Amino acid sequence: MALLAGMRTLLKHVLQRDQSCDTLQVAGWIRTRRDAKAFSFIELNDGTCLGNLQIVADAAIPGYEAIAKMSTGASVEVRGKLIPSPAAGQRWEMQATSIKLLGEAPDDYPLQKKGHSTEFLRSIAHLRPRTNLYGAVFRMRSRLAFAVHRFFQERDFICVHTPIITASDCEGAGEMFRVTTLPDDKSACDAEDFFGKRAYLTVSGQLEGETFACALSNIYTFGPTFRAENSNTSRHAAEFWMIEPEVAFCDLAGDMDLAEELVTYLVKEALENNEGDLAIFEKFVDKGLRERLEFVASRPFERISYTEAVKLLVASGKSFDYPVAYGLNLQSEHERWLTEEHCKKPVTVFNYPKEIKPFYMRLNDDNQTVTAMDVLVPGIGEIVGGSQREERLDVLLGNFAKHGLNAETYGWYADLRKYGSVPHAGFGMGFERMLMFVTGMANIRDVIPFARTPGNCQF
Ligand code: 4AD
Ligand code: MG
Repeated sequence: MALLAGMRTLLKHVLQRDQSCDTLQVAGWIRTRRDAKAFSFIELNDGTCLGNLQIVADAAIPGYEAIAKMSTGASVEVRGKLIPSPAAGQRWEMQATSIKLLGEAPDDYPLQKKGHSTEFLRSIAHLRPRTNLYGAVFRMRSRLAFAVHRFFQERDFICVHTPIITASDCEGAGEMFRVTTLPDDKSACDAEDFFGKRAYLTVSGQLEGETFACALSNIYTFGPTFRAENSNTSRHAAEFWMIEPEVAFCDLAGDMDLAEELVTYLVKEALENNEGDLAIFEKFVDKGLRERLEFVASRPFERISYTEAVKLLVASGKSFDYPVAYGLNLQSEHERWLTEEHCKKPVTVFNYPKEIKPFYMRLNDDNQTVTAMDVLVPGIGEIVGGSQREERLDVLLGNFAKHGLNAETYGWYADLRKYGSVPHAGFGMGFERMLMFVTGMANIRDVIPFARTPGNCQF
């Protein structure tokens, strides 16, 4: 079997030339088959695009003798002619000259024609990309991953691959997965471990990203991150991908500009390059999706300080599950009220109290707040979190002490402030949260090929 171009590529070429095509070869999985007296109709899909290709297979062609085994889910290879379809429903169809059964699918194939719940499909995550909805989700994931790189490369940012195994806790929250080769009996000490000390899966590439920004000016990293937080919500995963730009000679205002620009860029990408996938999300997931995305893409984001946000929340008179007061973290219900009900568009909240934010954020002149910012979007809440970084060595060293961090462990990070320190800023965008936003999928598990969440590490 020669290497095949996917159906999408083939059809693209045909559409470009807008003429029939002899002796094409396609392969894919059968969605449905209908038999007539002397021929069969097969709806074939290879996942490269949403659309199926209708195959008309005459009973006289080679391979047709296996037609009874060409059931939903079976894989076949078909040769034939692509001709304008005489029937409604598709522009082109393939008149098969031969058909070959590659792999049959017995009757217990779990993806039958009726709709399946997202919960059921998660339990067969190895098969769910064969459905229209998940095919669309994962094509969108690929498209946006590419767009992330394009966004930064167009702006001359340098991609840095930061490590996945690390010895420092970027967020200082201690929610890390330990990496060890020590035996289970715990008799050995840390010094005997693989790296001679404790090591973890990274929660963020930021600290290493900062070192490269303080040399190459504009960088970004885009990779997997891991959090052992036991929050079993629809927006948290134990393994997720983060996009983290870090920009030297940049302050909080520039940081917010870049974050908002990236969100808008990716929303436009989803609107422009979806080839019918967006219609699937509108049909099965979220009726108002396109309208909301167009709304977001065409307007500036709201910007309010944390202090204003708290005032608005208090004045709202709404009864929230979690208390609202200056000095407390904004919970997801508060974030969603701000963006969905009050501003009715994305909101960037900035300048949070220093006590509730990590050690690396730059202290403002008021001595109370740090230059933190979160971008909140309707339906999700926080999609981006970032800050200007503390570039003053003495203040940073003071922060290590206040946050109970070992200054020696972070010595290499402090060095950036010792040798040619510069103002710099960055943020992290949760890639899955962005995907939830542009697809309307309500659960993070449904935009990750194989989700890792508390109590679940299947496949
Ligand atoms: O706000 P966070 O924790 O910020 C950082 O990690 C910084 N070091 C980023 C930086 O400044 N370079 O996480 C950033 C984003 C969040 O806004 C959210 O979108 C996403 O990462 N995120 C998660 N997504 C899925 N599952 C989780 N458990 C997530 N935790 C954070
Ligand atoms: Mg955050």
